[in-house]
Amino acid sequence: MRNIVCLLGSPRPKGNSAVMAQALCESAEEAGARVTTFALNKLTYRGCQGCLACKKTAETCVLDDGLTPVLAAVRACDVLVLATPVYFGEVTSQLKGFIDRTFSYLQAGYAHLPRGQRSRLTPGKTLVFVIAQGHPREDLFTDIFPRYEYLLNWQGFTESHLLRACSVYHQGDAAARPELLEEAQNLGRRLATAQG
Ligand SMILES: Cc1cc2nc3c(=O)[nH]c(=O)nc-3n(C[C@H](O)[C@H](O)[C@H](O)COP(=O)(O)O)c2cc1C
Repeated sequence: MRNIVCLLGSPRPKGNSAVMAQALCESAEEAGARVTTFALNKLTYRGCQGCLACKKTAETCVLDDGLTPVLAAVRACDVLVLATPVYFGEVTSQLKGFIDRTFSYLQAGYAHLPRGQRSRLTPGKTLVFVIAQGHPREDLFTDIFPRYEYLLNWQGFTESHLLRACSVYHQGDAAARPELLEEAQNLGRRLATAQG
């Protein structure tokens, strides 16, 4: 059974990125996957402290806070879904806080290790980025996905997918676009049945 972990990066529980992620996750569950969802905005946590304890004395992040169970769940997942609005051309600070803490997944001396050996995670995980952007111009903010795709590849996410909606601003905008939800559902079904 495929194990999917979904992190909601928006503070809006029924916002556009959450609605798209939910469509993906529900269809994946119907197709047999196990899905665990965390709403990051409900958790209390700090960003990476740069203490390097995870490179010197520990194999995991030494901070003990709301992200601790999230980091453990992501370690064990086959598919990670990261859902976020575009905020000032970036992912939300809620999601960035999680991403920085994934530094703890990197092996000590990771920079000098060959690709494929840098991560403490089992290789072959799949990353899905779900991005909701208010601006209608599709050529804006296209850098977000490839930047994080590159960085999370170091952590062992060797397959990646993007679900992106432009021109969604108010809550309910994505829910009113059946083609978006269908794209999310199709991807959810594919991910649930893919051989990991
Ligand atoms: C603080 C803030 C910053 C935003 N910055 C951008 C931006 O840089 N580009 C953009 O296209 N939309 C921007 N938006 C609009 C959101 O991306 C848009 O409303 C999106 O659908 C919200 O997703 P959600 O419903 O999942 O929260 C911003 C919204 C807020 C509240």
